[in-house]
Amino acid sequence: MKATPTVFNRQVSKKIAVVGLGYVGLAAAVSFAEYGHCVSCMDIDTEKIECLKKCSSPFYEPGLADLLRSNTSRLSYTSDIKDACINAEIIFLAVQTPELPDGSADLTYLYEAATNIRAVLKKTCILVVKSTVPVGTCDQLASLFDDDIEVVSNPEFLAQGRAVYDMLHPARIVIGTVNEPTRTCLHELYSPFGAPIVWMDRRTAELTKYACNDFLALKLSYINEIANLCERFETNIELVTEAMGLDSRIGHHFLKAGIGYGGSCFSKDTKALYRMANDYGYELRTVHSAIEVNEYQKKLLIHKIKKYYANLCGKRIAVLGLAFKPETDDLREAASIACLPFLMDAGATAVVYDPKCAENVQRLFPSVFIEKSSEDALIDADIALIFTEWREICNITPEVFIQRMRHPIILDGRNCYDIETMRNHKLIYDSVGRPVTGCLKINEKAEKKENE
Ligand code: UGA
Repeated sequence: MKATPTVFNRQVSKKIAVVGLGYVGLAAAVSFAEYGHCVSCMDIDTEKIECLKKCSSPFYEPGLADLLRSNTSRLSYTSDIKDACINAEIIFLAVQTPELPDGSADLTYLYEAATNIRAVLKKTCILVVKSTVPVGTCDQLASLFDDDIEVVSNPEFLAQGRAVYDMLHPARIVIGTVNEPTRTCLHELYSPFGAPIVWMDRRTAELTKYACNDFLALKLSYINEIANLCERFETNIELVTEAMGLDSRIGHHFLKAGIGYGGSCFSKDTKALYRMANDYGYELRTVHSAIEVNEYQKKLLIHKIKKYYANLCGKRIAVLGLAFKPETDDLREAASIACLPFLMDAGATAVVYDPKCAENVQRLFPSVFIEKSSEDALIDADIALIFTEWREICNITPEVFIQRMRHPIILDGRNCYDIETMRNHKLIYDSVGRPVTGCLKINEKAEKKENE
């Protein structure tokens, strides 16, 4: 996956500030710098700023470190909002909007940043909101500023693990503004990215972001339910989705069945839109169902483990992969995090491996054992649970499971392995929406060992 733009189309350099340096803010900052703009990057997290000043990436995101290094002359870092914004022509707000207990979006960081910007801004400027915010937020922000500050909604569609690539190669750019000079300025900024720009008003842009994420969440919950049905009918979800995806009205994307969606975005944005709709007297039943299905799906491996062991006390469980998806060290809303407490409460020993999340998981669960490789985590395991389809986990051969594990029983939440290959080996392989292979023979072996 190539992160850098194929055509380096330099244009008149703009002075840009990016406030909030999560994966969205930083991916945007390095991409604008890559197109020749001067970008002042601001975050209240001083540790992050120090890390960036040393030219290193504060979190793992493919392609980010390279672009930070190759654009040092155009990127600057500060935790002072005045420093960052005073000379900016365009300020991007990319602060987090986390979930409140009632499901709505917490706009504290956003309003704090906007208020601080208002206090230091002396000149005409465009304030672009990239954070995901409820419909009407940009209008409210606009009411805080004088007419010389134009507030724009510009939602992002970057996926973690490919944020830099997605920023540089967008499928579309959505811009919510009806102000002509602002439109001209943002057209200049974004046209080199070579994607269609869909112009609209702010409220429509805000809703578009939720509509996209919630549609993808719905698609996933639907296919996960069909997968659950496949298991009951002893049919194969992969053949079903192959055929479904060939219908161009459906398409192949987001049809990979598994243990539900994780990450901060889908979970937060489904709840926020449901809540928002409720506030307007409308019950969004499809989205509500998607949320419910996902809650069940995230614990699928826990439901399944009971088929193999009625009592987990003293069992050694290899947990392979923890991140909510590969190529990120993010554990937010990951199925692994929903399941680990159950294993530990049941008296099992969880031996975990993830190429990027070891430190993060140790902070959350000090009592889990962390191994340096999948192969080490599998030693003497009574069962293996696969939560993330990291490439190195997908490359484990059936022989490794058989040689390393006490009982080679694999619960694969991400369908990492070819079912026919697994069928030809003496192990139990239980994946999502596909027939279980090897069940009886191994169960007998497991039972026998149990009784010894
Ligand atoms: C998602 C959207 O894809 C982005 O377009 C959006 O900008 C972003 O949220 C956001 O709002 O910031 P992200 O959460 O980073 O991006 O990751 P996805 O690649 O969408 O995956 C989300 C979850 O769905 C993961 O747990 C992944 O494993 C799961 N998934 C995805 C499946 O189970 N099957 C699939 O076919 C695709």
